[in-house]
Amino acid sequence: MSGPRVLVLNGPNLQRLGTREPEVYGHATHADLVALVERTAAELGLAAEVRQSDDEADLVRWLHEAVDTGRHVVINPAAFTHYSYALRDAAALVGGAGLTLVEVHISNPHAREAFRRHSVVSPVATGVVAGFGTEGYALALRAVAARHG
Ligand code: DQA
Repeated sequence: MSGPRVLVLNGPNLQRLGTREPEVYGHATHADLVALVERTAAELGLAAEVRQSDDEADLVRWLHEAVDTGRHVVINPAAFTHYSYALRDAAALVGGAGLTLVEVHISNPHAREAFRRHSVVSPVATGVVAGFGTEGYALALRAVAARHG
């Protein structure tokens, strides 16, 4: 696959999709999410790779890697969304390099607890998709393809 390249990054606890609060996050597993991303990327002519970590340092390093290798980013920072300035600063480098960064949330954080209503990442994201379940990752890939396809 030689189209635009995209790193799809998932933060803490997202490996537990399927069994983690299914009433909030649905029944799709992380493996289902990977399959959805691969299917959608193939359809859109994108080369996408999905990675997940519970570790902030991994996510920061992968954002640096995206900048250094010219890859767009779809990121669900999970709980780091709400307080990680390190992640926010690394995410800012992506836009600074002329690459697209889409922030994704499976749930709609604005409809939940007050602490979820603030994202430190959104101000440096190209755009945000939230509240559409795992389908949000497909929508985010469509946004990348629309901008760079
Ligand atoms: C989440 C929302 C966050 O508030 C939460 O900490 C998550 C998942 C979502 O995808 O809806 O872990 O990012």
